[in-house]
Amino acid sequence: MLAEHLSQAHDAASRRADRIDEQVEWIARSFLTGRDRRVLDLCCGPGLYALRLARKGHTCLGVDYSPASIRFATEMAGAERLPCQFTLGDVREVAFGSGFDLALLVFGEFNVFRPRDGELVVRKTRDALVAGGVMAIEAHTEEAIREIGARGLTWYSSAGGLFSERPHLCLREHLWDAASATATIRYFLIDSSTAKVTRFAQTFQSYSRKDYAALLQASGFASVEFAPSLAGPTGAAEPGMEVIIAR
Ligand SMILES: C[S@@+](CC[C@H](N)C(=O)[O-])C[C@H]1O[C@@H](n2cnc3c(N)ncnc32)[C@H](O)[C@@H]1O
Repeated sequence: MLAEHLSQAHDAASRRADRIDEQVEWIARSFLTGRDRRVLDLCCGPGLYALRLARKGHTCLGVDYSPASIRFATEMAGAERLPCQFTLGDVREVAFGSGFDLALLVFGEFNVFRPRDGELVVRKTRDALVAGGVMAIEAHTEEAIREIGARGLTWYSSAGGLFSERPHLCLREHLWDAASATATIRYFLIDSSTAKVTRFAQTFQSYSRKDYAALLQASGFASVEFAPSLAGPTGAAEPGMEVIIAR
């Protein structure tokens, strides 16, 4: 998975470096005026946002439950002596501390939480921010998640990738559940040499803009705005995602 995060051939686990560079420029310009602000990067993966913000002089804490990602990010921060620390753990459980100016939760990861867990993470984040602090969530749009659930049955073959390093065939089933407003993708991976089947599933919670605003306001944020992308109004668009800016 770490290799997939760092790959410059696709944007499946993390985006490619040039896109992240562009987004970090907008994030710093929009929310981190001056040097030495404190940033909390939730579900940070290998720290591609936190490390860049630390290079700009901001003090960053990244949290992720992937050991390989946290090891990589910690090694990078150490090698460059950056003001950046990484905690291995589940964002629903670990303590964040306090005094952050900005908290990030990017690349649609908010939508993988059940609503009660999403609300828990938002409340914990609000408590970790200074007065006037910002939480920027890059989330899937309501329509994008409905569209995921409507894709039906698809398949692909791969020489190795996100779910297996070995050659495999992947059968995918996309489902929409109107009652819970969730889309689920079920993956059935068939190993090309052993025919062993491994199953994975991924569920995305859909929210309308009204739902996002209500959740954030109920969690103690005073204002909620939306921006089209983390690259700012003139940067590259991110179809199917939007940025929720809660202050
Ligand atoms: C799509 S990746 C994005 C990583 C990073 N934000 C980026 O854009 O490069 C999502 C990350 O969320 C992490 N993650 C998902 N659920 C988590 C949880 N409950 N606690 C901590 N990390 C979590 C995964 O391990 C993965 O690294």
